Amino acid sequence: MEKYVIKGGRKLVGEVEISGAKNAAVAILPAVILSDEPCVLENVPNISDVSIIIRILYEMGADVKMLDKSTMRIDATMIKDPVVPHDMARQMRASYYFLGTLLGKFSRARVAMPGGCNLGDRPIDQHLKAFEALGGKCNIEHGMIDVTAKQLIGSQIYLDMVSVGATINAMLAAVKANGLTIIENAAKEPHIVDLANFLNSMGADIMGAGTDVIKIKGVPYLKGTTYSIIPDQIEAGTYMIAAAATRGNVLIKNVIPKHLESITAKLEKIGVNVEEYDDSVRISVDGPFVKTSVKTMPHPGFPTDMQPQIATLLCLAEGTSIVTEGIWDNRFRYVDELRRMGANISVDGKVAVIDGVGELMGAPVKAPDLRAGAALIIAGLCATGITEIEDIHHIERGYEELVEKLRGLGADISKKTIPGTSVRKAIG
Ligand code: EPU
Repeated sequence: MEKYVIKGGRKLVGEVEISGAKNAAVAILPAVILSDEPCVLENVPNISDVSIIIRILYEMGADVKMLDKSTMRIDATMIKDPVVPHDMARQMRASYYFLGTLLGKFSRARVAMPGGCNLGDRPIDQHLKAFEALGGKCNIEHGMIDVTAKQLIGSQIYLDMVSVGATINAMLAAVKANGLTIIENAAKEPHIVDLANFLNSMGADIMGAGTDVIKIKGVPYLKGTTYSIIPDQIEAGTYMIAAAATRGNVLIKNVIPKHLESITAKLEKIGVNVEEYDDSVRISVDGPFVKTSVKTMPHPGFPTDMQPQIATLLCLAEGTSIVTEGIWDNRFRYVDELRRMGANISVDGKVAVIDGVGELMGAPVKAPDLRAGAALIIAGLCATGITEIEDIHHIERGYEELVEKLRGLGADISKKTIPGTSVRKAIG
């Protein structure tokens, strides 16, 4: 097993290129199954969650060819059996997108219950509600989710809560259904729009993605396409906060500044300078960090996937900040680890009260999940002394070439094998 070793205290300076979005890629890759011709995907991030999806596609019979580092050609037309094996589906949350895509293509899907980050209870009732509205019959037995439909018929789907996963699964299942589907109370995240753009580029008829009502007219045939995945909003936000926390000066390239607005707004409140350009943002700091309150919400609110990172920055602010988690039940598991580094945070339910301490101290810590791991990296970069982070397989699920990118900005970070352990392949 491996760990990151960070010698903190160096300002991040220079330029960093953001990779393709994980949460768009993990929806778009399975969606290739819906295409009746091969597809080419560009800007695919090289992260372990993507490797798992590609392995699933390959094991199911797809032909996958890397054309360059981030471009792949996928021919999924040979897939005939709508079943995702147990051991693979359990390795990641987004494996449930195979339910929507296989159901959409074959009117039948059998996928093991998904795994993924432990952020509290992660029910899928809204996904199943959407499938049932379209005519699917859902059964969960022996850890497998089985959905079958005689024929998928377009329908009205009202989601009881805003769910990214259920919105995506409903779109995937409805895109070839007979007639019109209307998804109400839909999620509006950038990766929902990206999936709709991808499907429309294959000939789908989807309107309204990015608003809370999405209308999908089913089409019988989807052609091949070449499509470039959007830049990762959360990777960009993570580098924005890392640059700020080290009081550095970093140009973050290949971003869509509009997707970063809620993060930019909070950083400016904290006293960070954010300059926006067409497809990049520059972060710099010339004053003290100021306390603030943050509440996570569905897009366009402040993203839950940036909550641990901004909480880490607020440890360095003067005064008391309040961070409220509005999406997940269990997203403060990093707090114990930050306390080891000198943070003064108390948590009551979904609210964290952060008393600024001005400075963090390096310590041995463990990444409890992906974004918590990103927060510990930020803490390590700005702390005095050495921070060693274990359980980094969580982090490698979502950040491409993290060590290389941070070293390129001047960080002192390396990946080392933990003595007495073997190198474990990073799987989520
Ligand atoms: N929910 C239900 N029933 C459902 C679905 C969701 O009660 O059927 C609840 C959840 O328990 C949660 C809320 O609705 O309280 C929102 O969950 P959502 O379905 O939106 O989350 P998700 O689709 O499982 C995606 C991202 C997460 C991100 C959330 C929220 C992917 C693969 N995952 O999860 O990303 O936190 O949306 O934005 O897109 C990450 O990248 O680190 C990550 C965890």
